[in-house]
Amino acid sequence: MKKAKIIGTGSYVPEKVLTNADLEKIVDTNDEWIVSRTGMKERRIAADDEFTSDMGLKAAQSAIESAGIEKTEIDCILVATLSPDHVFPSTACIIQRELGLEGIPCLDLQAACSGYLYALAQSKAFVESGMYKNILVIASEKLSAITDYEDRNTCVLFGDGAAACIISQEGAGYVIDAITLGSDGCQAKLLHMPAGGVRSPASTETVKNREHFIHMNGKEVFKHAVRRMESASEEALLKAGLSKEKVSWLVPHQANIRIIETLAKRFCVPMERVFMTIHKYGNTSASSVGIALDELEKEKTPKVGDHLLLTAFGAGLTWGAAVLTKELA
Ligand code: ACO
Repeated sequence: MKKAKIIGTGSYVPEKVLTNADLEKIVDTNDEWIVSRTGMKERRIAADDEFTSDMGLKAAQSAIESAGIEKTEIDCILVATLSPDHVFPSTACIIQRELGLEGIPCLDLQAACSGYLYALAQSKAFVESGMYKNILVIASEKLSAITDYEDRNTCVLFGDGAAACIISQEGAGYVIDAITLGSDGCQAKLLHMPAGGVRSPASTETVKNREHFIHMNGKEVFKHAVRRMESASEEALLKAGLSKEKVSWLVPHQANIRIIETLAKRFCVPMERVFMTIHKYGNTSASSVGIALDELEKEKTPKVGDHLLLTAFGAGLTWGAAVLTKELA
């Protein structure tokens, strides 16, 4: 059986830049704290009339072009997001409409910051089982719409953006050698949006209490993030039959530079082989690993035979890791 591959990637970030200096004017923070605690300098913010589907569509169009296929060859669309345009219909259906691909199955997938890896795993299974041939995977987030710009603990962390890729068994690209996923619902309250679901529908009270924004216990999340991404990465490498020394590029979730540096050390990957966008985009949740993969491909052009280790972690808690190998065009 031929393994599924990523045969094209794309990404999109909005034009507007929110710098640490801008944040200093909004909350009690400073550039030195943000850079030293997170590694972030800037993040992108979508326009008021620019939504998750708009950004996802732009990333999708560039992934289709990069894969060199006709859009009519796509037979399924998966969108990973925790900031969908609406609770329903799915953002995937809205993007399908804009692409003019009426009829094919479309669905949203919610695994927070691990969403891109969950979508890769699902599309790998779909493609390798023969169910679909060319899957359009999109991750898109308008986190600025659910970020509390009165809370300095969270508002410095998040930004907007989208990533996409085409998964297929035909064509050249990155073979998806192995993926591991995991979750722990017992830790759900460490990182959540308290209201807006049926458990706590929107009310004057929930709005007044600022419960429609991201709430996070950063310190606790940090500890889980390192532990879970490390073990998922070890498991994925084992499944792929590779040792740590074989990792050519580490492409981690862009949540905190200290988490990234710890992981790099544990996997013996020098920092020049760790691809980062955190300084310019912050944490874009599900889009984070996908944007980094697309920019790595465009800026550093990994060599044939290079092994990439992707890993992510997010609300749920959820986590995952994937091993990719660049193959001959
Ligand atoms: N500016 C200045 N000071 C601040 C800021 C800020 N923006 N934010 C917090 N502080 C203060 C706190 O109030 C605290 O002050 P105190 O000691 O007087 O109470 C102090 O800085 C230390 O706060 P901590 O929370 O202990 O800071 P920490 O070193 O843990 O860094 C951070 C916080 C950056 C959030 C870190 O914990 C982190 O990155 N956690 C992981 C986040 C993550 O991985 N998320 C992934 C998933 S995201 C998703 O799924 C949507």
